[in-house]
Amino acid sequence: MTPRSLLRDDDLSPAEQAAVLDLAAAFKASPYAHKPLAGPRSVAVLFDKPTLRTQTSFSAGIAELGGHPMQVDSLLAGVGVRESVADVARVLGGQASAVVWRTFEQAKLEEMASYSGVPVINALTDDFHPCQLLADLLTVREHRGTLAGLTAAFVGDGANNMGNSWLLAGATAGMHVVIGAPEGYAPSQAMFDAAAKIATTTGGSVRLELDPVAAVTGADVVITDTWVSMGMEDEAAARAEVFAPYCLDEQLLAYADPAAIVLHCLPAYRGKEISAGVLDGPRSVVWDEAENRRHAQKAVLAFLAVHAGLTPATELPVSVLPGETR
Ligand code: NVA
Repeated sequence: MTPRSLLRDDDLSPAEQAAVLDLAAAFKASPYAHKPLAGPRSVAVLFDKPTLRTQTSFSAGIAELGGHPMQVDSLLAGVGVRESVADVARVLGGQASAVVWRTFEQAKLEEMASYSGVPVINALTDDFHPCQLLADLLTVREHRGTLAGLTAAFVGDGANNMGNSWLLAGATAGMHVVIGAPEGYAPSQAMFDAAAKIATTTGGSVRLELDPVAAVTGADVVITDTWVSMGMEDEAAARAEVFAPYCLDEQLLAYADPAAIVLHCLPAYRGKEISAGVLDGPRSVVWDEAENRRHAQKAVLAFLAVHAGLTPATELPVSVLPGETR
């Protein structure tokens, strides 16, 4: 049987997402107390795109869980080039208890999960960034005390991985997610439909606004991201023009709720998608957000380790199995 993986945000049900966030908070409170990867079990970690936060937070987090971060140089390995993704998957599954991979196409990640025989975690693809979203939600919960019922406005390139992930994960958390993006840069209709379907079960909602002011007005959480995602560097000049009105500066932020917080997954380009004053200002929680990557990803690894039967559920401080009593 194929073990559970985290390939996209809606791989977690609302109850599972809440449990993972509870677990992340518990790990944050006691970072060295729980060792579900004791052995140490190895977790293969591969990057086909640049990384800072993801590589360091997975390395530190896997070690804190008692495991061994097996950093695999994906250029040397030549995943999908020197060997097929399926063959690499079968080899990695024989060496590691889980695979963490950042790559381009979502389909390649799915192929890895189909053949590895171990849980696979999406460390960012062109389409989704679910680990970032769990860190984002943890950060919102810390600063606003809750998630359900809050309005989150994502402004900028709504068609990128962060736009898609905010739609799915925000709807799963029962939030009202607004995407503020120019014509041609909105998430697909299929993505909106998937998120809207989830929202009907959680009390959340999703909507698109072409006007950045309409998108941000009254929001409790305002999120932006680079206008030029990794792999789109050739489009930088054209995008700078299209997205200029969506810059999250003091003027635009003034339309949000007075207590609104600002998130950015980083790296940030001050003066492009966000002004220096906003990124470095009092509403910004981006450094907590960056730290929370580690806690959130530890929770994902532990959740998947329990579901794969690698570690007993009782190893964890929070119940992550349906019907499990403590
Ligand atoms: N949308 C950005 C996220 C960076 C963490 C990218 O894919 O480059």
